[in-house]
Amino acid sequence: MSEQQSQQPNIHANGASGNRHRTGSNGNSEQHSAGSTGPAGAFSPRFAQIVGWGYHVPEKVITNFDLEQIVDTKDEWIRSRTGIEERHVAAAPSETSATLGILAGRAALEMADVTPSKVDLIICATSSPEHIFPSTASIIQDGLGASNAGAFDLSAACSGFVYGLSMARGHILAGDAEYVLVIGAETLSRIVDWTDRTTCVLFGDGSGAVLVAASDVPGGITATVLGSDGSGADLLTVPAGGSAMPASLETVSSGGHYIKMDGTAVFRFATRVMAEATRQVLGKAGLSVDDVDLVIPHQANVRIIQNSVFKQLKIPEDKVFINLQKYGNTSTASIPIALCEAIEAGKIKPGDNLVFVGFGAGLTWAACAIKWSVPIAKPEETWWRNTQRQAAYQAAAARSMWKRAIRRVYSQFPAKSRWGERKEESEAG
Ligand code: ACO
Repeated sequence: MSEQQSQQPNIHANGASGNRHRTGSNGNSEQHSAGSTGPAGAFSPRFAQIVGWGYHVPEKVITNFDLEQIVDTKDEWIRSRTGIEERHVAAAPSETSATLGILAGRAALEMADVTPSKVDLIICATSSPEHIFPSTASIIQDGLGASNAGAFDLSAACSGFVYGLSMARGHILAGDAEYVLVIGAETLSRIVDWTDRTTCVLFGDGSGAVLVAASDVPGGITATVLGSDGSGADLLTVPAGGSAMPASLETVSSGGHYIKMDGTAVFRFATRVMAEATRQVLGKAGLSVDDVDLVIPHQANVRIIQNSVFKQLKIPEDKVFINLQKYGNTSTASIPIALCEAIEAGKIKPGDNLVFVGFGAGLTWAACAIKWSVPIAKPEETWWRNTQRQAAYQAAAARSMWKRAIRRVYSQFPAKSRWGERKEESEAG
């Protein structure tokens, strides 16, 4: 057992994937069966705890001054209207939503010291998926070597990560999963119109992930609120490329595959729902605004956070984590990246009440309340552990290549029925 595991709460693992139970700090090795009768006849409640977290951003940074060279804008305008100073951009072709997601996913698993084969479900929230299908989550599942995991993409724009946490909690509380990896991964720079100053200054690329685990320690994700108002669907959209407006010469030449946004309308909507959703989720969790230790809002615009969280909810600045100046709006990745940085900055400790709250295209909004209940120390990295991990990554890549190769070989042969038909034909004459 690693040091991290030994500090962590008991983790249930007797569900879907048939994982063995894990032991907690007291060294007990009882098997837990959430929502059912345990070995001693006692009801064993189940909780959804975030036990691992990680993020990744591309190396290339574009500052507001760089943008001044591309579009008619000024650093001062961007800074004063949004708070953004720079953003990371996926410059290399190999940097895609899936590859960024894989790196964040690995980091979250390493933090929890859990192997990819233990993961039951991967949810990738993304506004810039690799394809309409297959899902980016499936590509991440293959890249991680999470051979026992189901995988799907979640489309709720910037609210997607909190939607994903809600799904993860549901699966865990229902006893359907022991470990769910929730990832927000974006390469928005690929769908931004770099000639449109009203949008290109806002967005950035990156990924963040958390591992949600079944646990018998009270707390974790205690309440969620999800909302949608599709009457505002046209306020923030990539109009073309789906079934409503399939790709054509016209959609390409008119820029229909880029993000279009009514910024003022989205701003108004966002300031309203951020405050409302926070109040609602606190009510569901049985908490008041004063009980909150840290709010991690979607990092779109500092003025939205000021108008909603500071002014309407009256939550003081030191209880709100903001890092959008460095990354811009990374959509689904913004909250998990901010969570990781808040932890790095020592802003979160066991016992804290956290709120994650976001909004996005759809229109959608989402909030969750978390009672942070796990230690934040990173497991001690040993040479052996690191070598094992690297070997597992290599093995996952080799397995994927092998499966592709086998499929290619099989595809050279005609289907069985065709063999049968041909045999009969040749026998007949
Ligand atoms: N540089 C310089 N001037 C600009 C720029 C720019 N980059 N962009 C717009 N302007 C100009 C406009 O053309 C306008 O000029 P005009 O008065 O001559 O017409 C002027 O600045 C003011 O524009 P507004 O749109 O009124 O500026 P506002 O203060 O509303 O800020 C902004 C615009 C930053 C887009 C704001 O509305 C906003 O943040 N909205 C929310 C957007 C958001 O969060 N979207 C993401 C949602 S999450 C998701 O699902 C992806």
